[in-house]
Amino acid sequence: MSFVAVRKDAIYFHELHATADTMAAEIHAGLSSEQKALPPKYFYDKKGSELFDAITRLPEYYPTRTEIGLLRRHAPEMAELLGMQSFLIELGSGSSTKIRLLLEAVRPRIYVPMDISREHLITAAQRLADDYPWLTVHAACVDYSRPWDVPDFGPGRYNAFFPGSSIGNFEPGDALRLLRQVGRLVGAGGGLLIGVDLKKDADILEQAYNDAQGVTADFNLNVLAHINRRLDADFNTGNFAHKAVYNAVSGRIEMHLECRKDHTVCIGGTRYSFSSGETIHTENSYKYSVEEFHGLAAQAGFSPVRVWTDREGLFSIHYLKLG
Ligand SMILES: C[S@@+](CC[C@H](N)C(=O)[O-])C[C@H]1O[C@@H](n2cnc3c(N)ncnc32)[C@H](O)[C@@H]1O
Repeated sequence: MSFVAVRKDAIYFHELHATADTMAAEIHAGLSSEQKALPPKYFYDKKGSELFDAITRLPEYYPTRTEIGLLRRHAPEMAELLGMQSFLIELGSGSSTKIRLLLEAVRPRIYVPMDISREHLITAAQRLADDYPWLTVHAACVDYSRPWDVPDFGPGRYNAFFPGSSIGNFEPGDALRLLRQVGRLVGAGGGLLIGVDLKKDADILEQAYNDAQGVTADFNLNVLAHINRRLDADFNTGNFAHKAVYNAVSGRIEMHLECRKDHTVCIGGTRYSFSSGETIHTENSYKYSVEEFHGLAAQAGFSPVRVWTDREGLFSIHYLKLG
């Protein structure tokens, strides 16, 4: 896999990204299956990233403020474990907000924010580089649900940072594949600092994904608007309603878009039929106990070093070491 670094103002930019053809094929496969589904990564165009940021500020959405609380409280210990002068790669970096709590203490040789949402990634990386003039930033536009890599920076200590419980968006088998890929990236002795949402009362979970202001609904519906923009499609978002429920058997929040009436949608010349009441499954958000997550990480070769949780047991941050 080769990357071409482009200098964009204060940052270097690398691209290894899904093409429109890949997106069309994935959307077609998802909408042709018996339970229609769309990959959650397609929430995230510029608008989707902005809506996600709005979600993080909602009173019902406990994960972001709880994880930030843990980062604030335990930053010195986390920084000591990460060590100084490492190559620090952040998966799904979004607005690169949380890393700010660790940057001064860990002073990485290079920081690599990695995200699928191209424009948002570039804006966030440039803002960070402006705020930390000593920091070398190599932003990488990468789809980490497909085989990926990051530029090779040569020998040194590698750490990965994966906040936001985005690991929960993967089926456990895919989460394991991703953790193995992270393991190959950081190599023996490398570390992973990862935020993982904990199993809890279904009411708290369902409120977090069904906020009163309807921001999560707009975020969910944005996947259809994104497909319209990218693939010449004619989804009418008014024909769908947001739905989020906790599936206790699978231990996951499921987000769906429920169709309000029988109709058809044209995507790039292909017609798809939707019946009233049927749903498009748009996202899973798996919740793990600390032990369950340690079990998963161990299968990828990671050993637990330290785990931090809040007093209410809502969220966890793990520091794991390869080997
Ligand atoms: C739940 S948000 C978390 C954002 C941020 N890390 C945080 O903790 O607030 C998920 C982030 O991962 C990115 N993302 C989702 N799927 C991705 C994929 N397949 N490859 C790369 N980035 C992805 C999104 O664009 C978004 O910025």
